[in-house]
Parts: sequence; C-alpha cells; structure tokens
Amino acid sequence: MAANQQEVHVEDLQIGDGDGDDLVTPWDVQGSSAKGVDYDKLIKRFGSQKVDDVIVKRIEQVTGKPAHHFLRRGIFFSHRDMHLILNMYEKKQPFYLYTGRGPSSDSMHMGHLIPFLFTKWLQETFDVPLVIQLTDDEKFLWKDLTLEEANRLAYENAKDIIAVGFDVNKTFIFSDMDYIGSCPEFYKNMCRVEKLVTFNQVKGIFGFGDSDCIGKISFPAIQAAPSFSSSFPHIFNRKTNIPCLIPCAIDQDPYFRMTRDVAPRMGCHKPALLHSTFFPALQGAQSKMSASDPNSSIFLTDTNKQIKDKINKYAFSGGGTTVDEHREKGGNCDIDVSYQYLTFFLEDDEKLEKIRMDYSSGELLTGFLKKELIGILQDLVSKHRDRRAQVTDDVVKQFMTPRKLKYDY
Ligand code: TYM
Repeated sequence: MAANQQEVHVEDLQIGDGDGDDLVTPWDVQGSSAKGVDYDKLIKRFGSQKVDDVIVKRIEQVTGKPAHHFLRRGIFFSHRDMHLILNMYEKKQPFYLYTGRGPSSDSMHMGHLIPFLFTKWLQETFDVPLVIQLTDDEKFLWKDLTLEEANRLAYENAKDIIAVGFDVNKTFIFSDMDYIGSCPEFYKNMCRVEKLVTFNQVKGIFGFGDSDCIGKISFPAIQAAPSFSSSFPHIFNRKTNIPCLIPCAIDQDPYFRMTRDVAPRMGCHKPALLHSTFFPALQGAQSKMSASDPNSSIFLTDTNKQIKDKINKYAFSGGGTTVDEHREKGGNCDIDVSYQYLTFFLEDDEKLEKIRMDYSSGELLTGFLKKELIGILQDLVSKHRDRRAQVTDDVVKQFMTPRKLKYDY
C-alpha cells in the first residue's frame, strides 16, 4: 500500500484523549502508563509509518553512512513519506529540511535538543538547506508574554540553536514577527492554507474552543507555511515544488497532518516527517520534559551542580526500594529515567547494553546509572554552554538574514 493511502483524513484527526489513549497534543503530553506513551499505538492512531529496520538500512545504503543512534534505537520512531525523500535523494533531486522552536523561555532544555541534534546530522548527511522557524507569535498568543518579550526570547533561543553547530551557509533561522512582514510569498501561503481549513477542522485537530482567541485559530497556517519552498524565495529562487522533510517530536504532528491535507489542493508536495519520541520529564516517562515545569527539566544553561542535584533528587528510579530487593528483583529499565536518558546520550551501544543487562539483573544500583548520566550530561551541557558563549549578536544576525544559501536552484 502506498504510504499516503493509510493516511487519516483531516476530518478524522481528533485529539486523542479517549479511554485508555495517551494524550499527545502540541501543548500537553500525558502517557496513561508508567512506561509513558505507547508509541506503537500512536503510530496507528496518527496514521504514520514505523521507522523499521528497512528504512534505517535504506538510509544507510543511500547515504553510505551509519545511521544516527536516534534512528538505530527507535528514538526517531515514526515517519511520513521518508521513502519518497530517499527516492528523490537517490535521483539527485533536491529537498530541504524544516524544523522549529516556540520561544517560551530564555533557555531551551535537553528535550528540545533532540530534534535539533538530529536535524544537524540530517543536514550533514544529506547536505541540504535547512529553515528554522521561531514562533514568537505563537508564544505571544499562548503565553503571558508581550510581543517584545517573545521576540527577545526568539533571539535568545536562536543562540542555543546555533550552538548545536549548524552551518551558516546552509541554514536560515527566522522569527515569525520579523520575517513574515518582509516576505509576501510567505504570507500568501498562509492565506492559501487559511482558506482551505475550516474552523470545524481546527477544532477537531487542535481542540480549540469558543473562548480561544482568533489568533490561535489561524496560527496553524503560520506553522504550515514553511513546508512550502515558495515561502523562501531568496533560498529557492521562487521554485514552488521543492519538497521538505520535517524532523520534530510527535507532539507537532497535528500541524503537519493538517498541512499534508491541504498541500495537494495547493498544488504542492506534502511535507515528509520524521517523528521522535519524547525525552521524559525527570519525574518519569508519563510526561515529557517541559520548560513550564523547571523541576522536570535540565536546561542548557544549568550549571554542573544544578545538573547533579536535579538528577540525584528528581530522576525517577526503576530500582528496588531497598538494596536487598533491588539485588533480588533487579531494576526496571522501562521506567528508569536515568536509563532512558542514557539511551538518548550514551552513544556506545555495547556499554549501554551492558548497563541494561547489569541493572536489570540487580548487579548495578540506581546510584551507578545516575553517576554515569551526570558525567555525560555535565560534559554535554558545559560544551554547549561554551559554544553558546561564542555566538555573538553578529553571528545571530548572519543566520537570521534572509539570503541565498550555498545551493543554486
Ligand atoms: P517547541 O518549542 O515546543 O519544541 C521545539 C522542538 O522540540 C521538540 N520537543 C521535544 N522533543 C523531545 N522531547 C521533548 N520533551 C520535547 N519537547 C519539545 C518539539 O517537538 C519541537 O520539535 N510550535 C513549535 C515550533 C515549531 C516547530 C516547527 C517545531 C514551528 N515550526 C516545525 C517543529 C517543526 C513549538 O512550540 O516547539
């Protein structure tokens, strides 16, 4: 069956909070069991495809490079139309990457890093342009922030994103507030999307109610617009038909289910997607790491001491309540937050597998996992902090100036 045929129609895209369903929306994630979200079930409910061995092998085969451990370990677990992107790449036809961030806090947290780290790998592996949308308008509409403050946070977050290591010759970062007014082509795409989606549909997809402001109701068109290459005339030389691939966590999928529904009616390609699982909250996999709860999160600006204290104090343990019980029954990696974090950041497959076996058998105690994790995260965050300190206002300006990138179209 062709990938698109399995797709759920936009009329059916209700937010899932029915009996036994995990709640996954762009604003809220709540798993119904201690293991967190049931991702296989989510794939069925959302009508996407599993990132299976076939697709991982194919990515390795067409790029000639080993797959990123996020792919090998099922962290990027779901996709839409990835085979079409790989077909294009094989035929040397162009595509581009699109991802984003809603700037609601001065610093991003470890969870936000996941799509950006993976996007960097995709950019390096496929050598393609990347556009990054900073939705300061979204955060103005949803949070208690002034326009000016949301815009300031966009520029602060741009520093975190640049510090991930993107190539300035291949990357355009933009704030909605600053870019949209300067680009009629972007605004035209917003209007096209706005005309094709009814109020009833956005209510069904996003759960908007009668007392939500009208800004929220039309916002999805703004997140949809960068999926179309014509929104970036300076990059794509006014070409309207260059497909895009969107890496993000699965909470953003409602926006792109809507976009995929309208794209053919706009004469455009549907955006392809690669979805990640959620980096869990320190308190457990039932909810995602979220900036609105500082105790659930490790921020990219946290000091080594803060990282150590937060993990020791809050990271939910899957170990036994006493050492004797733990030695006898072993630890449960499925719910142990430190182990879950190691699957994201400990790249050595053999070492990770040994930790899994020794923790499950009861030989290793929770304290060992926490110590291992604290060392890895302190190293990662302090290197990130150093790179961020090098990002001057001038560098931010370079990334955020509309311009041609190194590619010709
Ligand atoms: P935002 O700022 O909520 O999140 C930014 C990116 O991080 C992902 N994410 C996570 N990934 C793993 N674990 C977590 N705990 C976690 N929390 C957040 C999000 O899925 C996202 O990829 N509306 C968007 C901004 C946006 C965007 C986009 C995102 C605009 N265009 C295109 C992705 C793709 C937002 O508020 O993201």
